[in-house]
Amino acid sequence: LYHTPELTPVQNVADCAIAIDVLRATTTIVKALSVGAEAVQVFSDLDKLMQESAAWAPEKRLRAGERGGGKVAGYDLGNSPLDCTSERMHDRRLFMSTTNGTRALEIVQASPSVLAAALINRRAVVDYVLSQRPETVWIVGAGWEGSFALEDTVCAGAIAHSLLAGLNCTLEELAGNDELAAAVALYEQWKDNLLGLFHLASHGKRLLRLDCHDDLKYCAQTDVLDVLPIQREIGVLVRNR
Ligand code: MLT
Repeated sequence: LYHTPELTPVQNVADCAIAIDVLRATTTIVKALSVGAEAVQVFSDLDKLMQESAAWAPEKRLRAGERGGGKVAGYDLGNSPLDCTSERMHDRRLFMSTTNGTRALEIVQASPSVLAAALINRRAVVDYVLSQRPETVWIVGAGWEGSFALEDTVCAGAIAHSLLAGLNCTLEELAGNDELAAAVALYEQWKDNLLGLFHLASHGKRLLRLDCHDDLKYCAQTDVLDVLPIQREIGVLVRNR
């Protein structure tokens, strides 16, 4: 488990990389695919997004841009999962750039298996990893501009907790992975009050200042969508289940 993209070694790749940005990019990706988006294509760079998406007919694409929690001017959407309705998303490609989440996905894109995880699809991610049994797995929390984020860490802990149970393995057997042990402990302490934890988190507070209370509530749900976003080609995530 590496907390932020900055701490993720890019010179070698894991067999499977799980990128997490619970508030809110990966939650939004899962929601968009669940309501019928054809794919979600992610960019760290806004200009690149504009260039690539220009080749798509306007009725076949949507552009989502977020910086600092707010919608970027000129884009169709910001980064709220609640804006992803089937009327809007059906059969369209979502071109998306966010402050940290899409960057985390970009950092791990060379891995043979790249998954987007949030609390809402935790079970789908865990089931996939248990069925594939990759030798090395990275769990990369997007964080905030290089800093640790509580919401991503608790989600990493939730995933690790279920993976360990599925493998009949204890934390002691994974000795030496302090980050994983801390993430699991955080999850065990907060699993019944994830919304409360989000209210403590610095990005949670930022979103509350922007009146995104309902987004926090939505993102705090666990295992509500059986949807697995998986990278089909570099930067393009599709629904695997
Ligand atoms: C990000 O990529 O940093 C986030 O998803 C920010 C947000 O809440 O929109």
